[in-house]
This record gives sequence, C-alpha cells and structure tokens, in this order.
Amino acid sequence: MENEKEVVVRFDHVTKEYRLYKSEKARFRGLFNKNVPHKINKAVNDLSFEIRRGDAVSLIGRNGAGKSTILKMITGVTFPTSGDVEVNGTISALLELRAGFDANFTGRENIYLKCELMGLTQDEIKALEPEIIEFADVGEYIDQPLKTYSSGMKARLGFAICVNVNPDILIIDEALSVGDKRFRKKCTQKVHEIMSREDVTLLFVTHSLDAAQDFCKRGIVLEKGVKLFDGDIEEAIEFYNARE
Ligand SMILES: Nc1ncnc2c1ncn2[C@@H]1O[C@H](COP(=O)(O)OP(=O)(O)O)[C@@H](O)[C@H]1O
Ligand SMILES: [Mg+2]
Repeated sequence: MENEKEVVVRFDHVTKEYRLYKSEKARFRGLFNKNVPHKINKAVNDLSFEIRRGDAVSLIGRNGAGKSTILKMITGVTFPTSGDVEVNGTISALLELRAGFDANFTGRENIYLKCELMGLTQDEIKALEPEIIEFADVGEYIDQPLKTYSSGMKARLGFAICVNVNPDILIIDEALSVGDKRFRKKCTQKVHEIMSREDVTLLFVTHSLDAAQDFCKRGIVLEKGVKLFDGDIEEAIEFYNARE
C-alpha cells in the first residue's frame, strides 16, 4: 500500500562538501584557485533515500551528523556538491529558528514577508493571518518591530506561520525544543493535527527521541553524513542508543 504513494523527496547519491580554509583570505582565493590548500568536510556523504506522501520521518544523529544540511538541501537553502535532490510539493520549513525574518518589520509584516516567500497570494495570506496571529500569541507585539521580540516570541511567530500555511511537506528542525511548556504542548498538538491529514509529509529533527517516536513511523540514523539505518522508528532509536 505504502509504496503506491508518490515520492515527494528523493535523494540520489547526494554528497555535500564544505571546504575548510585556514583563513577568510584563503577562502576567497580558493574561489578562483583550486590549489589553495583546504580540507574537505563531507557534511552529507553519498546519501540516498525516498520519502513518500504521508510519511513521517525523523532524522536522528548527533550534532554535526548532517541533519540540518539535508533539510537545507530539501528547502533549496543550499545545494548538493554531487548527486540529485528532487522535491515534489509545497514546503513549509522551520529551520533552526532562523525563520527568514526581517528585524525591522513588525510581526504582522513578517507574516506577509514569509508567506509571500512561500508562494502564497495576498488573499491567501489575509485568510490565514488571524489564525497565525492567534497561534503566535504575542499580543500587541504583533504590530511592533521584530527586534523588540524575545527569542521565545520570535520562535512562536515562526512556528505559527510554519504550521498554519497548509504545506504538502512540513519540515521542522529542532524547533519544538524552544518556548515554554505550554507553547510546546500547543505545537505538539498542532503537528499531530496536521499529520492527521493523510497527505501531509513530515520531516523532523529533534534532540528529543520521545518526540521523534511520538510523531514519526520511520527514522533515518546518520553519523558524519552517512546513513547507518533507515526503518521503523523504534528500531532506529534502539540502533542509535546502542551506538551512543
Ligand atoms: N555553512 C557551513 N560551512 C562549513 N561547514 C558547515 C556548514 N554548515 C554545516 N557545516 C558542517 O557540516 C557538518 C554537518 O552539519 P549540520 O548539517 O549542521 O549537522 P546537524 O544538523 O546534524 O547538527 C558539520 O560538520 C558542520 O560543521
Ligand atoms: Mg542541525
């Protein structure tokens, strides 16, 4: 059954290399001259997988395993050095809370900015605005510039936008670990509600293996950019814990 659903994300032998230079000057020279000495860090190393519509997949691995780099390639924030990344569907992503906000604009203006970036029309944004504002729960601050927000408020606004735009693919990177307990609970409920819609695909990164197990059926375990395990979430967590 599962296999009949269409592929929404496909990684085909994807490698992402970062070049590490001794100095900024060397990095600059390295843009024009391949012989400038540098080390290569393979953040993602020959990675292949497929995610189908309706899947809920958790990326599991220590700091530096390559999780964020994978999500950034899916969202087009960065590109593979080699291999192919294919994505079918609209994406809403909350990447490590750098939500693409502008600090000089108000919360409300940032809602419009962010939603426009995600390809929504003015009418669509207008329709979603009350829901987003209610969920963000920042009170009168919604019409204050973002630079006056606490980090918790920024996180709430980012999350509120991300979960209310009805994406095909929802991507959440470490985002549920911020904010107070009450807001985390609200986020958790909202993600469950989104996932109850059959066709939504979830890609999830968190420090909390409990949350991963709660949301996801499948886990991909990564170490130094290499996929070590891909399968049932409980087995993935067991595999990961056994390597710790
Ligand atoms: N912009 C960058 N420039 C150089 N190295 C990077 C950059 N982003 C990530 N890396 C490196 O790539 C590896 C994977 O990082 P990342 O994807 O952030 O891991 P994770 O999200 O699993 O903690 C790490 O070794 C990290 O230092
Ligand atoms: Mg990360």
